[in-house]
Order: sequence, then structure tokens, then C-alpha cells
Amino acid sequence: MAEQNSSLLEPGVNIRPVIDQDGVKMLAERLYGICVLELKELNGYDDKNFHIKEDPNVKNPLIMTHCPNGYVLKIMNAMDSQNLAVVEAQNEIMNFLSTRSVTCPKPIRNVFGHMFSTEIINNKQHVVRLLEYVPGELIKDAPKTEALFYQLGEFVANLDGKLQNFNHSGLVSREHMWMLTKVPELDKFKYVIKDQDKLDLAEEVIEEFKYAVVPRLDELEKGVIHGDFNEMNVLVAKKPGGGSSDYRIAGIIDFGDIQYSYYVFEVAIAMTYMMLLTGDPRTGGYVLAGYTVTRRLPDDEYRLLKILVSARLVQSLILGAYAKEQDPNNTYVISTEKANGWELLRKIRKSKPNPEVTDPTDWKTIANEYLTRS
Ligand SMILES: Nc1ncnc2c1ncn2[C@@H]1O[C@H](COP(=O)(O)OP(=O)(O)O)[C@@H](O)[C@H]1O
Ligand SMILES: [Mg+2]
Repeated sequence: MAEQNSSLLEPGVNIRPVIDQDGVKMLAERLYGICVLELKELNGYDDKNFHIKEDPNVKNPLIMTHCPNGYVLKIMNAMDSQNLAVVEAQNEIMNFLSTRSVTCPKPIRNVFGHMFSTEIINNKQHVVRLLEYVPGELIKDAPKTEALFYQLGEFVANLDGKLQNFNHSGLVSREHMWMLTKVPELDKFKYVIKDQDKLDLAEEVIEEFKYAVVPRLDELEKGVIHGDFNEMNVLVAKKPGGGSSDYRIAGIIDFGDIQYSYYVFEVAIAMTYMMLLTGDPRTGGYVLAGYTVTRRLPDDEYRLLKILVSARLVQSLILGAYAKEQDPNNTYVISTEKANGWELLRKIRKSKPNPEVTDPTDWKTIANEYLTRS
């Protein structure tokens, strides 16, 4: 029998923590000395995340940092909890970026002085961490302007620029199913798509990825990337004195997918989720415009964008449907499907060069038009 790779998701395994609100309060008290005043469950894909506020009337000398906006208690899924070097890398990357003027959550030490601990919850081992809660709105709730998408592109390139100086041994051989390099392995999960037309489309994309991207990976520039610039991981803030639609990119959360991988994946993923937000492929061009101000995208990388975006859509649609099958109450996992992900995928796949109008997936032309206009 083939050896099981326990660090990679396998069909049929449920990895999400099972814990109720009292259990969460007990963890916060025991590990952080926090007397919980308010507790709210946040969205969580494979992890469980809780926003907690401490009772200010109860003195807690056990932790050094007290956050006015509260904390996020993150209980990590059973699979990722096995790789502690990656947990360390995630904590270090947040500290690294915080000291380089990137707004992101900072990990908080527990009563033992550690940035995380491993706890047995419902008979499984789970990593438990406390992060600072970063106040702000998510980009999905902000007015969808070209300028904001442009700024997101700038933010992505700047972040990866800073990460050029970040290294951690825990990331060297890290593999997980949300890496774009794992798209060929979606074959194992595609059975969750029951509609034949959708399945055909997904298979077409997976096959194209295998012959058009996999053999070219060596030509792409590598580095540490965030890996999940989605509409619920990017924080925005209103510009002081600005109008009602004047928002700026304020920060980034969710370092769960960090990986040593390819820079072009980062921008392709950001473009994908911003296009999902508007339903318009042209949005990708505004993200690209901002990105190229800091990092020029080599032609070899630009040529792969369309298949990379399609592959990310397929990955999110398949793994989302899989997670829904595991946990039917968790509707968060089908956000891509609810945002008409299949429709966007069809639009992107069928769009062809047309001499009359700019093709909406001709992101380079759209980016150049935007840059000349502004
Ligand atoms: N540190 C934080 N500050 C503010 N909001 C957070 C923070 N961590 C998580 N959230 C909220 O919880 C949601 C899910 O958390 P996230 O870390 O992105 O988990 P997942 O990997 O499951 O997407 C986010 O989209 C955000 O709304
Ligand atoms: Mg997230």
C-alpha cells in the first residue's frame, strides 16, 4: 500500500476541530488567563476562529499585551497541527511583517511564554494560538472601485518584496492542497462535483494546468508568498477626509497558506478573488496594473496568468464542495461557488481576442489603459 502523506489532505478525513463555546472560554482562561467577556465565532474554513474580548474589570497579569479590540483564538485543524515548524513560520512571518509597517495580526504569548500550544480537543491534537484582532472592514464589503483594486495590486507586490528577506526552514518542503502546484492532485477530489458540465470544465482546466504550467515551473521566479489574497483576508479602511467610496488597503490577515512558491501565483490568486468580487474579468487588469508598478511581470509569467486564474477557481470550487460535504453547516467554504465562480470560469475560458473591443482577459492592455488614464 502506498504510504500516506499525513500533511496532505486525503479524501474522507475530517480535520476541523470540534469544540463548544464553554470549551473555548476554558482554553482562553487556562492558556492566557483571559476572563472572556464576549465570545463570537468567526468564519473558519478548516480551523475554528473565535473573536474574544476580555473582561477589563478582571486583572490579568499573565499576558504582556492587552489588545483593546480583542483577540482571535485560533484552533487549528488536526492536519496542519501536525507540522509545528509551519506554525512557527506563520507566527514569525506575522512578527516580521509587523515590524516592517505591514498591518497584520501579531501572535500573543501564552502563560508559558510560548506562541502556541498543542491541546487535545475531542480526542485530536490541535494547535491553539491567540492573535491580535485587527479592526477594520473586509475588502468584500468596501465600494468596488478600480483604484482600490489597483492599490491591492501594489500591496501584493510590496508584501512579496518584503518577504524576499524572510526565510524559515518550516516552509522549505511545506505542501498543502491549496498550493497551486497541487492542482493536478485535484483529480482525487473532483468526484464531489456532481454536475457533468461543471466536471468537464474542471477536468479541462486541470489537464491544461498539467501540460501548460507544470513543465514550465522551473522558469518562474520563486519566493515566500502569502498564498491566499482573498476578499475575506484583506482589510480596508476609509481614507481620512475622503468621500464615501474612498478606501485604502489597510492590512492582511490569515497566514495559513504561506508557502515557498512562485510570485506569479500570488498575483494570479489576488486577481482571481477580486474578479469574483465584481464578476468582471476586467478587474484582474486593475490588480495587475498596481502590481507591475513594483514588480514587472516577465512575459513567461504573464502568459500563464489565464490558466493560473482558471486553476485557482477550479481549486476553490472543488475543495469548497469537498469541505461542504464534510461539514454541511459550514457555508463559508462555498463562498467561491456563491460568488458565481463557475460563471466567471466560463467567461474567462471562452473569452477570445477580438479586434473590435478589448478582450476582458487581456489584462495587460487593461492595465496599460488604466495606467495611462490615471
Ligand atoms: N486577526 C484578525 N483580525 C480581524 N479579523 C480576523 C482575524 N482573524 C480572523 N478574522 C476574521 O475571521 C475570518 C476567518 O479567519 P481566517 O484567519 O481568515 O481563517 P480561514 O483560514 O478559515 O479563512 C476572517 O475572514 C476575518 O473576518
Ligand atoms: Mg481566511
